[in-house]
Amino acid sequence: MTSNAKRGPNTVCVHAGTRPDEATGGLVTPIHVSTAHRFPHRGLAEPGYPRYHTLPTQLAAADKIAALEGADACFIHASGLASITVALLAFLRAGDHALIQADIYGGTHHFVTAEFPRLGIGFDFVDCGDVARLRAAARPNTRLVYVETPSNPLLGVADLAAVAAVAREIGAVSVCDNTFATPVCQNPLSLGIDVAAHSGTKYLAGHSDLNCGAVACRAAHAERLHETTVNYGPTLNGMDAFLLERGLKTLALRMERICRNGLAVAAWLAAHPKVARVNYPGLPGHPGHAVAARQMRGFGGMLSFELFGAANAADAFAARLRMIPQAVSLGGVESLICLPRLTSHAKMTAAERAAAGIGDTLLRLSVGIEDEADIIADLAQALDG
Ligand SMILES: Cc1ncc(COP(=O)(O)O)c(C=O)c1O
Repeated sequence: MTSNAKRGPNTVCVHAGTRPDEATGGLVTPIHVSTAHRFPHRGLAEPGYPRYHTLPTQLAAADKIAALEGADACFIHASGLASITVALLAFLRAGDHALIQADIYGGTHHFVTAEFPRLGIGFDFVDCGDVARLRAAARPNTRLVYVETPSNPLLGVADLAAVAAVAREIGAVSVCDNTFATPVCQNPLSLGIDVAAHSGTKYLAGHSDLNCGAVACRAAHAERLHETTVNYGPTLNGMDAFLLERGLKTLALRMERICRNGLAVAAWLAAHPKVARVNYPGLPGHPGHAVAARQMRGFGGMLSFELFGAANAADAFAARLRMIPQAVSLGGVESLICLPRLTSHAKMTAAERAAAGIGDTLLRLSVGIEDEADIIADLAQALDG
Protein backbone atom coordinates (compact mmCIF):
# COMPACT_ATOMS: atom_id res chain seq x y z
CA MET A 1 0.00 0.00 0.00
CA THR A 2 2.98 2.32 0.57
CA SER A 3 3.78 2.37 -3.13
CA ASN A 4 0.11 3.00 -4.00
CA ALA A 5 0.15 6.11 -1.82
CA LYS A 6 2.61 7.67 -4.28
CA ARG A 7 0.68 6.67 -7.39
CA GLY A 8 -2.04 8.55 -9.23
CA PRO A 9 -5.69 7.48 -8.86
CA ASN A 10 -5.95 5.95 -12.33
CA THR A 11 -2.89 3.79 -11.68
CA VAL A 12 -4.23 2.71 -8.29
CA CYS A 13 -7.59 1.82 -9.89
CA VAL A 14 -5.89 -0.35 -12.49
CA HIS A 15 -3.18 -2.04 -10.43
CA ALA A 16 -3.82 -1.99 -6.66
CA GLY A 17 -5.14 -5.19 -5.13
CA THR A 18 -5.30 -7.17 -8.38
CA ARG A 19 -4.14 -10.76 -7.91
CA PRO A 20 -3.00 -12.14 -11.27
CA ASP A 21 -3.60 -15.84 -11.95
CA GLU A 22 -0.41 -17.61 -10.83
CA ALA A 23 -1.51 -20.88 -12.48
CA THR A 24 -1.87 -19.50 -16.02
CA GLY A 25 -0.10 -16.14 -16.03
CA GLY A 26 -3.46 -14.44 -16.66
CA LEU A 27 -3.31 -10.78 -15.64
CA VAL A 28 -6.88 -10.58 -14.37
CA THR A 29 -7.84 -11.74 -10.87
CA PRO A 30 -9.57 -15.12 -11.33
CA ILE A 31 -13.13 -15.59 -10.07
CA HIS A 32 -12.83 -17.67 -6.89
CA VAL A 33 -16.08 -19.31 -5.88
CA SER A 34 -15.10 -22.28 -3.70
CA THR A 35 -17.05 -22.54 -0.51
CA ALA A 36 -15.13 -25.68 0.52
CA HIS A 37 -11.36 -25.32 0.99
CA ARG A 38 -8.78 -27.92 2.04
CA PHE A 39 -7.83 -27.51 5.66
CA PRO A 40 -5.16 -27.53 6.85
CA HIS A 41 -3.60 -25.91 3.77
CA ARG A 42 -0.10 -24.43 3.43
CA GLY A 43 0.01 -23.71 7.15
CA LEU A 44 -3.09 -21.43 7.10
CA ALA A 45 -4.46 -20.88 10.62
CA GLU A 46 -8.06 -20.37 9.36
CA PRO A 47 -9.90 -22.29 6.65
CA GLY A 48 -10.79 -20.40 3.48
CA TYR A 49 -14.52 -19.60 3.34
CA PRO A 50 -16.43 -16.87 1.44
CA ARG A 51 -18.26 -15.46 4.48
CA TYR A 52 -14.89 -15.11 6.24
CA HIS A 53 -13.77 -12.70 3.47
CA THR A 54 -10.83 -14.88 2.44
CA LEU A 55 -11.33 -15.44 -1.32
CA PRO A 56 -8.60 -13.80 -3.46
CA THR A 57 -11.34 -12.29 -5.66
CA GLN A 58 -12.86 -10.61 -2.58
CA LEU A 59 -9.46 -9.44 -1.33
CA ALA A 60 -8.53 -7.98 -4.74
CA ALA A 61 -11.60 -5.71 -4.82
CA ALA A 62 -11.33 -4.86 -1.11
CA ASP A 63 -7.62 -4.02 -1.33
CA LYS A 64 -8.22 -1.80 -4.37
CA ILE A 65 -10.82 0.20 -2.39
CA ALA A 66 -8.50 0.31 0.65
CA ALA A 67 -5.70 1.71 -1.54
CA LEU A 68 -8.05 4.33 -3.04
CA GLU A 69 -9.28 5.36 0.43
CA GLY A 70 -5.78 5.38 1.95
CA ALA A 71 -7.10 2.76 4.39
CA ASP A 72 -5.34 -0.18 6.05
CA ALA A 73 -8.27 -2.54 5.50
CA CYS A 74 -11.54 -2.85 3.62
CA PHE A 75 -14.37 -5.39 3.70
CA ILE A 76 -16.91 -5.82 0.91
CA HIS A 77 -20.55 -6.72 1.33
CA ALA A 78 -23.66 -7.65 -0.63
CA SER A 79 -25.10 -4.09 -0.56
CA GLY A 80 -24.26 -0.62 0.62
CA LEU A 81 -26.80 -0.95 3.39
CA ALA A 82 -25.12 -4.19 4.52
CA SER A 83 -21.85 -2.25 4.81
CA ILE A 84 -23.54 0.57 6.71
CA THR A 85 -25.21 -1.98 9.02
CA VAL A 86 -21.83 -3.58 9.68
CA ALA A 87 -20.24 -0.19 10.38
CA LEU A 88 -23.03 0.79 12.81
CA LEU A 89 -23.42 -2.49 14.63
CA ALA A 90 -19.68 -3.07 14.92
CA PHE A 91 -19.44 -0.14 17.32
CA LEU A 92 -22.90 0.15 18.95
CA ARG A 93 -24.63 -1.99 21.55
CA ALA A 94 -27.78 -1.76 23.72
CA GLY A 95 -27.61 1.31 25.95
CA ASP A 96 -25.38 3.27 23.56
CA HIS A 97 -26.37 6.46 21.78
CA ALA A 98 -25.50 7.56 18.24
CA LEU A 99 -25.56 10.95 16.53
CA ILE A 100 -26.84 10.51 12.99
CA GLN A 101 -26.86 13.17 10.31
CA ALA A 102 -30.46 14.23 9.57
CA ASP A 103 -30.11 14.62 5.79
CA ILE A 104 -28.99 11.15 4.68
CA TYR A 105 -29.97 8.37 2.28
CA GLY A 106 -33.57 7.37 3.13
CA GLY A 107 -32.71 3.68 3.55
CA THR A 108 -30.12 4.47 6.21
CA HIS A 109 -32.58 6.81 7.91
CA HIS A 110 -35.19 4.05 7.91
CA PHE A 111 -32.70 1.46 9.22
CA VAL A 112 -31.91 3.70 12.19
CA THR A 113 -35.53 4.54 13.03
CA ALA A 114 -36.83 0.97 12.51
CA GLU A 115 -33.99 -1.10 13.99
CA PHE A 116 -32.20 0.96 16.66
CA PRO A 117 -35.20 1.01 19.06
CA ARG A 118 -35.51 -2.80 18.77
CA LEU A 119 -31.81 -3.08 19.65
CA GLY A 120 -32.00 -0.65 22.56
CA ILE A 121 -29.71 1.87 20.83
CA GLY A 122 -30.60 5.54 21.33
CA PHE A 123 -30.08 8.14 18.61
CA ASP A 124 -30.61 11.74 17.63
CA PHE A 125 -30.68 13.13 14.10
CA VAL A 126 -28.44 16.18 13.88
CA ASP A 127 -27.18 18.64 11.30
CA CYS A 128 -23.52 17.62 10.94
CA GLY A 129 -22.92 20.82 8.97
CA ASP A 130 -23.33 22.67 12.29
CA VAL A 131 -20.47 21.40 14.44
CA ALA A 132 -21.43 23.39 17.54
CA ARG A 133 -24.89 21.74 17.52
CA LEU A 134 -23.31 18.34 16.90
CA ARG A 135 -21.11 18.73 19.97
CA ALA A 136 -24.05 20.01 22.03
CA ALA A 137 -26.14 16.96 21.07
CA ALA A 138 -23.53 14.52 22.45
CA ARG A 139 -24.44 12.49 25.53
CA PRO A 140 -22.15 10.64 27.94
CA ASN A 141 -23.10 7.37 26.17
CA THR A 142 -22.64 8.66 22.58
CA ARG A 143 -20.44 6.05 20.92
CA LEU A 144 -20.82 6.82 17.23
CA VAL A 145 -21.18 9.81 14.91
CA TYR A 146 -22.56 9.09 11.45
CA VAL A 147 -22.15 11.58 8.62
CA GLU A 148 -22.87 11.53 4.87
CA THR A 149 -21.23 14.17 2.68
CA PRO A 150 -22.24 15.25 0.13
CA SER A 151 -25.61 14.08 1.39
CA ASN A 152 -28.46 12.36 -0.41
CA PRO A 153 -30.50 14.09 -1.84
CA LEU A 154 -29.77 17.69 -0.81
CA LEU A 155 -26.00 17.63 -1.42
CA GLY A 156 -25.38 19.11 2.02
CA VAL A 157 -21.71 19.34 2.93
CA ALA A 158 -20.28 18.54 6.36
CA ASP A 159 -16.75 19.53 7.39
CA LEU A 160 -15.27 16.07 7.90
CA ALA A 161 -12.18 17.23 9.82
CA ALA A 162 -14.43 19.15 12.25
CA VAL A 163 -16.89 16.23 12.63
CA ALA A 164 -13.98 13.83 13.22
CA ALA A 165 -12.55 16.17 15.87
CA VAL A 166 -15.89 16.26 17.74
CA ALA A 167 -16.15 12.47 17.58
CA ARG A 168 -12.61 12.09 18.96
CA GLU A 169 -13.31 14.62 21.71
CA ILE A 170 -16.42 12.72 22.91
CA GLY A 171 -14.79 9.29 22.51
CA ALA A 172 -17.06 8.19 19.63
CA VAL A 173 -16.23 6.31 16.44
CA SER A 174 -16.90 8.39 13.31
CA VAL A 175 -18.38 6.83 10.18
CA CYS A 176 -18.78 8.65 6.86
CA ASP A 177 -20.93 7.45 3.96
CA ASN A 178 -18.60 8.39 1.09
CA THR A 179 -20.86 7.07 -1.69
CA PHE A 180 -21.60 10.37 -3.44
CA ALA A 181 -17.99 11.58 -3.41
CA THR A 182 -16.19 8.27 -4.09
CA PRO A 183 -12.62 7.77 -2.87
CA VAL A 184 -11.40 9.48 -6.04
CA CYS A 185 -12.89 12.81 -4.91
CA GLN A 186 -12.74 12.53 -1.11
CA ASN A 187 -10.88 10.45 1.50
CA PRO A 188 -12.63 10.71 4.90
CA LEU A 189 -9.84 8.80 6.68
CA SER A 190 -7.26 11.39 5.66
CA LEU A 191 -9.48 13.99 7.41
CA GLY A 192 -9.59 12.00 10.67
CA ILE A 193 -12.79 9.96 10.13
CA ASP A 194 -12.51 6.36 11.38
CA VAL A 195 -14.58 4.44 8.81
CA ALA A 196 -15.57 5.23 5.20
CA ALA A 197 -18.67 3.34 4.05
CA HIS A 198 -19.84 2.96 0.46
CA SER A 199 -22.77 1.80 -1.55
CA GLY A 200 -20.53 0.13 -4.15
CA THR A 201 -23.69 -0.35 -6.20
CA LYS A 202 -23.17 3.23 -7.33
CA TYR A 203 -19.87 4.67 -8.63
CA LEU A 204 -17.50 1.95 -7.40
CA ALA A 205 -19.05 -0.78 -9.54
CA GLY A 206 -20.29 1.93 -11.86
CA HIS A 207 -22.44 0.14 -14.44
CA SER A 208 -25.87 -0.18 -12.76
CA ASP A 209 -25.56 -3.97 -12.73
CA LEU A 210 -24.26 -4.89 -9.28
CA ASN A 211 -25.47 -4.53 -5.69
CA CYS A 212 -22.51 -4.28 -3.29
CA GLY A 213 -20.93 -2.20 -0.53
CA ALA A 214 -17.67 -1.59 1.29
CA VAL A 215 -16.24 -0.31 4.55
CA ALA A 216 -12.67 0.99 4.69
CA CYS A 217 -10.79 1.72 7.92
CA ARG A 218 -7.49 2.03 9.70
CA ALA A 219 -5.89 -1.01 11.34
CA ALA A 220 -7.35 -0.17 14.77
CA HIS A 221 -10.93 -0.85 13.60
CA ALA A 222 -10.24 -3.67 11.15
CA GLU A 223 -10.70 -6.58 13.55
CA ARG A 224 -14.10 -5.30 14.80
CA LEU A 225 -15.38 -4.70 11.26
CA HIS A 226 -14.12 -8.10 10.11
CA GLU A 227 -15.70 -9.86 13.09
CA THR A 228 -19.03 -8.09 12.50
CA THR A 229 -18.87 -9.05 8.82
CA VAL A 230 -18.30 -12.70 9.71
CA ASN A 231 -20.98 -12.73 12.42
CA TYR A 232 -23.76 -11.11 10.40
CA GLY A 233 -22.59 -12.74 7.17
CA PRO A 234 -23.30 -10.25 4.34
CA THR A 235 -19.88 -10.77 2.68
CA LEU A 236 -19.91 -10.21 -1.10
CA ASN A 237 -19.63 -13.45 -3.11
CA GLY A 238 -16.73 -14.18 -5.47
CA MET A 239 -18.64 -13.64 -8.75
CA ASP A 240 -19.83 -10.21 -7.68
CA ALA A 241 -16.45 -9.32 -6.16
CA PHE A 242 -14.98 -9.95 -9.62
CA LEU A 243 -17.47 -7.51 -11.18
CA LEU A 244 -16.70 -4.94 -8.49
CA GLU A 245 -12.95 -5.16 -9.12
CA ARG A 246 -13.51 -4.83 -12.86
CA GLY A 247 -15.70 -1.76 -12.39
CA LEU A 248 -13.17 -0.17 -10.04
CA LYS A 249 -10.46 -0.22 -12.74
CA THR A 250 -12.18 2.68 -14.52
CA LEU A 251 -13.46 4.54 -11.45
CA ALA A 252 -10.98 7.44 -11.62
CA LEU A 253 -11.47 7.77 -15.39
CA ARG A 254 -15.26 7.81 -15.01
CA MET A 255 -15.16 10.29 -12.14
CA GLU A 256 -13.00 12.71 -14.13
CA ARG A 257 -15.69 12.85 -16.82
CA ILE A 258 -18.59 12.73 -14.33
CA CYS A 259 -17.22 15.66 -12.29
CA ARG A 260 -16.76 17.72 -15.46
CA ASN A 261 -20.29 16.92 -16.65
CA GLY A 262 -21.74 17.51 -13.16
CA LEU A 263 -20.31 21.02 -12.92
CA ALA A 264 -21.43 21.93 -16.45
CA VAL A 265 -24.98 20.62 -15.96
CA ALA A 266 -25.32 22.27 -12.53
CA ALA A 267 -24.18 25.64 -13.90
CA TRP A 268 -26.55 25.32 -16.88
CA LEU A 269 -29.53 24.44 -14.68
CA ALA A 270 -28.73 27.27 -12.23
CA ALA A 271 -28.96 29.77 -15.10
CA HIS A 272 -32.30 28.43 -16.42
CA PRO A 273 -35.34 30.66 -15.70
CA LYS A 274 -37.60 27.68 -14.86
CA VAL A 275 -35.20 26.32 -12.23
CA ALA A 276 -35.81 27.66 -8.73
CA ARG A 277 -32.79 26.17 -7.00
CA VAL A 278 -29.81 23.88 -7.69
CA ASN A 279 -27.98 21.94 -4.97
CA TYR A 280 -24.44 21.17 -6.15
CA PRO A 281 -21.36 21.72 -3.97
CA GLY A 282 -19.30 22.81 -6.98
CA LEU A 283 -21.39 25.96 -7.46
CA PRO A 284 -19.86 28.98 -5.67
CA GLY A 285 -23.30 29.89 -4.23
CA HIS A 286 -23.69 26.51 -2.45
CA PRO A 287 -23.44 27.04 1.34
CA GLY A 288 -20.91 24.21 1.62
CA HIS A 289 -18.80 25.22 -1.39
CA ALA A 290 -15.77 26.44 0.56
CA VAL A 291 -15.64 23.29 2.73
CA ALA A 292 -16.22 21.05 -0.30
CA ALA A 293 -13.44 22.82 -2.23
CA ARG A 294 -11.10 22.17 0.72
CA GLN A 295 -11.93 18.51 1.33
CA MET A 296 -12.88 17.24 -2.15
CA ARG A 297 -10.76 16.83 -5.28
CA GLY A 298 -13.84 17.02 -7.51
CA PHE A 299 -17.49 17.79 -6.76
CA GLY A 300 -18.95 14.59 -8.22
CA GLY A 301 -21.90 13.98 -10.48
CA MET A 302 -24.84 14.18 -8.07
CA LEU A 303 -27.05 17.24 -7.94
CA SER A 304 -30.62 18.02 -7.02
CA PHE A 305 -32.84 20.86 -8.11
CA GLU A 306 -36.31 22.29 -7.74
CA LEU A 307 -38.48 23.80 -10.46
CA PHE A 308 -40.82 26.72 -10.01
CA GLY A 309 -44.37 25.40 -9.65
CA ALA A 310 -46.10 22.54 -7.87
CA ALA A 311 -45.05 18.90 -7.49
CA ASN A 312 -46.79 18.00 -10.74
CA ALA A 313 -44.48 20.39 -12.67
CA ALA A 314 -41.51 18.31 -11.53
CA ASP A 315 -43.33 15.04 -12.34
CA ALA A 316 -44.25 16.29 -15.82
CA PHE A 317 -40.69 17.50 -16.49
CA ALA A 318 -39.21 14.12 -15.53
CA ALA A 319 -41.74 12.33 -17.75
CA ARG A 320 -40.75 14.50 -20.76
CA LEU A 321 -37.06 13.50 -20.61
CA ARG A 322 -36.15 11.28 -23.58
CA MET A 323 -32.61 10.08 -22.89
CA ILE A 324 -32.44 10.35 -19.11
CA PRO A 325 -34.69 7.71 -17.53
CA GLN A 326 -36.51 8.15 -14.24
CA ALA A 327 -34.89 5.44 -12.17
CA VAL A 328 -33.92 4.45 -8.68
CA SER A 329 -30.18 4.35 -7.95
CA LEU A 330 -27.31 6.51 -9.18
CA GLY A 331 -23.62 6.52 -10.02
CA GLY A 332 -23.76 4.51 -13.24
CA VAL A 333 -22.39 5.42 -16.65
CA GLU A 334 -25.86 6.58 -17.70
CA SER A 335 -27.53 9.73 -16.38
CA LEU A 336 -30.57 8.98 -14.19
CA ILE A 337 -33.19 11.17 -12.59
CA CYS A 338 -35.61 10.55 -9.73
CA LEU A 339 -38.07 12.26 -7.45
CA PRO A 340 -36.74 11.44 -3.94
CA ARG A 341 -40.23 11.67 -2.41
CA LEU A 342 -41.23 8.67 -4.56
CA THR A 343 -37.96 6.71 -4.52
CA SER A 344 -34.90 7.03 -2.29
CA HIS A 345 -36.81 8.78 0.52
CA ALA A 346 -40.26 7.20 0.11
CA LYS A 347 -39.90 5.33 3.40
CA MET A 348 -39.63 8.60 5.33
CA THR A 349 -42.93 10.14 6.38
CA ALA A 350 -43.98 13.42 4.72
CA ALA A 351 -43.25 15.16 8.03
CA GLU A 352 -39.75 13.61 8.23
CA ARG A 353 -39.05 14.66 4.64
CA ALA A 354 -40.24 18.19 5.29
CA ALA A 355 -38.08 18.36 8.42
CA ALA A 356 -35.07 17.22 6.40
CA GLY A 357 -35.78 19.83 3.70
CA ILE A 358 -36.76 17.31 1.00
CA GLY A 359 -39.49 19.13 -0.90
CA ASP A 360 -42.16 17.52 -3.10
CA THR A 361 -40.74 19.15 -6.26
CA LEU A 362 -37.18 18.05 -5.61
CA LEU A 363 -35.53 16.20 -8.51
CA ARG A 364 -32.26 14.30 -8.03
CA LEU A 365 -30.01 13.92 -11.05
CA SER A 366 -27.11 11.48 -11.33
CA VAL A 367 -24.99 12.81 -14.16
CA GLY A 368 -23.40 10.05 -16.25
CA ILE A 369 -20.50 9.88 -18.67
CA GLU A 370 -22.51 10.78 -21.80
CA ASP A 371 -21.50 13.85 -23.79
CA GLU A 372 -22.29 17.00 -21.85
CA ALA A 373 -24.16 18.57 -24.79
CA ASP A 374 -26.52 15.58 -25.05
CA ILE A 375 -27.38 15.64 -21.33
CA ILE A 376 -28.09 19.37 -21.48
CA ALA A 377 -30.09 19.01 -24.71
CA ASP A 378 -32.39 16.46 -23.06
CA LEU A 379 -32.88 18.65 -19.97
CA ALA A 380 -33.52 21.67 -22.21
CA GLN A 381 -36.22 20.01 -24.32
CA ALA A 382 -37.97 18.71 -21.18
CA LEU A 383 -37.83 22.13 -19.48
CA ASP A 384 -39.09 23.89 -22.59
CA GLY A 385 -41.85 21.33 -23.22
C1 LIG B 1 -25.69 7.55 -0.13
C2 LIG B 1 -26.17 6.13 -0.12
N1 LIG B 1 -25.72 5.29 0.82
C3 LIG B 1 -26.13 4.01 0.87
C4 LIG B 1 -27.03 3.50 -0.03
C5 LIG B 1 -27.48 2.06 0.09
O1 LIG B 1 -26.83 1.31 -0.88
P1 LIG B 1 -27.39 -0.09 -1.43
O2 LIG B 1 -28.63 0.21 -2.19
O3 LIG B 1 -26.26 -0.60 -2.26
O4 LIG B 1 -27.66 -0.95 -0.25
C6 LIG B 1 -27.53 4.33 -1.04
C7 LIG B 1 -28.51 3.81 -2.02
O5 LIG B 1 -29.10 4.53 -2.79
C8 LIG B 1 -27.09 5.68 -1.09
O6 LIG B 1 -27.55 6.54 -2.02
